[in-house]
Amino acid sequence: MSSLDFAPLLRAGLPPPAAKYAGLCKYYFIGGNNDADAVPVDGLITAATAVLQREGRALANYGLASGPLGYLPLREFLAAKLKRDAGIACSAEEILITSGSLQGLDLVNGVLLEKGDTVLIEQETYQGALTRLARLGVTAVGIPLDREGMRVDAVAAALAGLEARGVRPKYIYTIPTVQNPTGTIMGEERRAQLLRVARIYGVPIFEDDCYADLVWNGARPPALYAMSPHGGVIHIGSFSKSIAPALRVGFIVAPWEMLARMLALKTDAGSGALEQMVLAEYCAAHFTAHVPRLTRGLRAKLDILMDSLAEQFGTAAEFDEPKGGIFLWIKLPDAVDTLKLAQAALAAGVAINPGPEWSTDKTYSKSRMRLCFASPAADAIREGVAALAQVCRAEFGVPARSANVEEARGAG
Ligand SMILES: Cc1ncc(COP(=O)(O)O)c(C=O)c1O
Repeated sequence: MSSLDFAPLLRAGLPPPAAKYAGLCKYYFIGGNNDADAVPVDGLITAATAVLQREGRALANYGLASGPLGYLPLREFLAAKLKRDAGIACSAEEILITSGSLQGLDLVNGVLLEKGDTVLIEQETYQGALTRLARLGVTAVGIPLDREGMRVDAVAAALAGLEARGVRPKYIYTIPTVQNPTGTIMGEERRAQLLRVARIYGVPIFEDDCYADLVWNGARPPALYAMSPHGGVIHIGSFSKSIAPALRVGFIVAPWEMLARMLALKTDAGSGALEQMVLAEYCAAHFTAHVPRLTRGLRAKLDILMDSLAEQFGTAAEFDEPKGGIFLWIKLPDAVDTLKLAQAALAAGVAINPGPEWSTDKTYSKSRMRLCFASPAADAIREGVAALAQVCRAEFGVPARSANVEEARGAG
C-alpha cells in the first residue's frame, strides 16, 4: 500500500525543508558549539543527584511549583548574577526562562513584529536573528560596526532617514558585549549614546547578551538594560555559552507587562524543568569559579587559531583580536568568495561560516568568514586551518606561496 502523500497538504509559505543530519565534519569551525572539555560534567552530575533527591517530586507539576516563568531558584540565581555582573536591578518576577535564547528571540519578535516592519541591526550579526527577520517579512537595516561595536552616528542617521519617510523601527537589535561575529565590546559611553539616540526616536533596544560571561579579562560594562532607568530595553541571555548549548536554557529580562505578553505566546507549557533544576543547583555554588576556567581555555584556543592563521595564510588573513567569546571574524583577500570557499572546504572536511550569511551587506562580507575556535580540539584547529589554506589556494590562488607564508608544512 502506498503511503499518504503529505506534500499537497503542506501549508503555503513554509521555509525550505531542513537537511538531514550528516554528522559533524572533521574540522568543524561553524556554529556556536562550546569546548567539550570545559563542560563541568562532574559538577552537573553532583547537582543533578542533589536536586532530584531533594525536589524530584516537584516534576509531577507543569512548571514545578514555580509557575510559568520558570524554576524560581534559577531565576533567583539570575537576578543576583545580573545585579553583580551587569548592574541590572530586577526581581525574579522580571525574568522568564526560555528554551535557549533563541526562544527569547522568537518571543520578543512575536510580540513586536509584523510583516512590513523595520528594525535596526548590526550590519554583521547573528545569522539566527537575520533568518528570523527575513522569514517574518521584516526589513533589517544594517548599521556598520567599528572596534567598539554598533556605530551610534550611523544609528542616528538611519533613524533620521527613516523618520523622514514616516518609518519608526520596532527595535534596535544589538549584541553589545562580545559581538557575534566581530568580538567587539561596546564601551559604557557608547552605550549611553545609543540609549540617548534610541530614546529621542522612541525606539526600544533589544539587547542580546549571550556571550557576556566570556570576556577575557572578566570585566564588562553595565548592560544597556541596567543603564536605562526609564525602561525601553529588553534583555536576553543564555547558559549556552557559559555552561552548555545542548541544555537549551536561556532567559528574557523585561518588565512584567512585557513578559505577560510573551508568556501568552510561549506555547510549550514551560521549558525543560530538569535542566533548570540542575543549572540552579550547579550555578549557585560553582558558576563564578567555572567561568574563568572556561575563558582561560577559550583564550588559549584563540591563540592557537591566530597563530595557525598567521602561519598558513600570512598577511592574507586579517582580523582584530576578539575581546572574548568563541569566534574569530576574518577578512581574506578580495578575490576570495567565502560562499564558494565554504563549499569547497566542506568537500575537504572543513566547515566554515561564510561572511554573507552573517551580514546585511553581502558585498562587504563576500571575502569574510567566521571561525568558531571553541569546539575543535587544538590539533584540529591547526590541521583544519592548514587544510583550509590549501583549499583556498587551489580555488582562489591565495594565500600565495610568497615571502609572507612559509611553505605550508606537510600540506603542500
Ligand atoms: C547572538 C546570539 N543570540 C542567540 C543565540 C542562541 O543561543 P541559544 O538559543 O543557544 O541560547 C546565539 C547562538 O549562537 C547567538 O550567537
